[in-house]
This record gives sequence, C-alpha cells and structure tokens, in this order.
Amino acid sequence: MNRIISPSILSADLCNLQKDIEMLNLSDADWIHLDVMDGVFVPNISFGMPVVRAISKLTAKPLDVHLMIVNPDKYIEAFCSAGANILTVHLEACVHLHRTVQYIKSLGMKAGVSLNPHTPVSLLEHIITDIDLLLIMSVNPGFSGQRFIIGSLNKIRQAKELITKTGSNTLIEVDGGISLENAAEIYSAGADVLVASNAIFSSDNPTEYMKRMKEM
Ligand code: DX5
Ligand code: ZN
Repeated sequence: MNRIISPSILSADLCNLQKDIEMLNLSDADWIHLDVMDGVFVPNISFGMPVVRAISKLTAKPLDVHLMIVNPDKYIEAFCSAGANILTVHLEACVHLHRTVQYIKSLGMKAGVSLNPHTPVSLLEHIITDIDLLLIMSVNPGFSGQRFIIGSLNKIRQAKELITKTGSNTLIEVDGGISLENAAEIYSAGADVLVASNAIFSSDNPTEYMKRMKEM
C-alpha cells in the first residue's frame, strides 16, 4: 500500500502561507490537510472557506479538508466550491451521517468520516463501505502540537480489520501527535495516510522531514 502524507498547515507560517504552500508543492506531500474549526465543536477557531479557496489557487495537490464544526451539512457545498477534494466530517457532529456522506459524494468529492479519541470504530460498521476515508483522531481535536494518544494504535488495527472484513477500499488516515518517532508504528498498525503539522513545520527542513516520514 502506498504511504500517503498529508501535512496540516495549522503550524505553518500563516504570515507566509504562500511560501509554505510552494514548499509543499515541491515536496513529497501527497495531499494538503486543512483544519477547519468553529470554536463550538472544538475549543479553537482556525479558518474557513476563503482560506481554502486561496490555497486551492496555489496548488494542484488534493485539498484534504477536515471539518471540526457542528452542522457540517450547512457548509458542504461551500467547501466544494472553495476547492475541497476530500471532505471529512466528524461522526459526533452528524445525526444523519449516511445522508451527509452521500451528499459529499454527490458533489464529486471524496467523503471522509472522523472519530474522536473516545468514539469506537464499531459505530462505522454500517457505513464503512460507503466512505472513502476514515480519519482516526489520535489527539483531542482543536490544537496542533499535542501528544499522540497511544490507544489510537488499537483503533487503527480495529479499523483495518473492519475494512478488510467488509472488502471496502476505505483509506485509514491518522491525525494528531505524529512525528518521525512514531510514524513507522502507526503505518504498521494499518494507517494509509499520516497527517502531521507541528513535527513538520517546526523541523529545520520540512521537505526532508516529509521525505523521511514516507520512507519509514
Ligand atoms: C488537530 C488537527 C490536526 C493538527 C495536527 O485538531 O486536526 O490536523 O493540525 O497537528 P500535530 O501534527 O501538530 O498534532
Ligand atoms: Zn486535522
């Protein structure tokens, strides 16, 4: 399985975002992960559609948009027209998750579902074959630079088992507290896509850092 890296720009230099996007364009980054926070679903506010749209004009890499917001259905079309290629909602924020997932796909985007650290993988049993991406949060969402919750490794294994059992093509993405120190372990638990922000953007050479993460 191809290893995918999706750097999150949350820890990028927001005063020089164009420079960081240009660096990502020339790097081994496969996707660009954009963390949208509303201050309600999570205790932080980041950015929304205008920033996604601005970034989409600077890159041809797929935009992997992670919505940490309540009522995501209300904004799905807006994120699509802003340039999102993969749109991930939180299971905890969706009452009619199946409808939300179908709606995302009907607009031509890949649909992702994310689970907070306390939410069991088994809740996805009846929807796993419908989703393109399962995003396992390995920190409590809201901030960059937190410590990886070790129990997430078991959740990755459970997710892998469910995907294999159901013969689905869903990719497993893991997000939060990932660095060169734990990337190999996370990949071998079954992850296909790693998101990282602080580790990449605080390193001396982000391009080299991502290259090493992929090669682990
Ligand atoms: C956390 C976000 C993450 C975050 C990861 O709520 O969803 O994508 O940017 O940051 P690090 O890699 O610094 O934990
Ligand atoms: Zn994220």
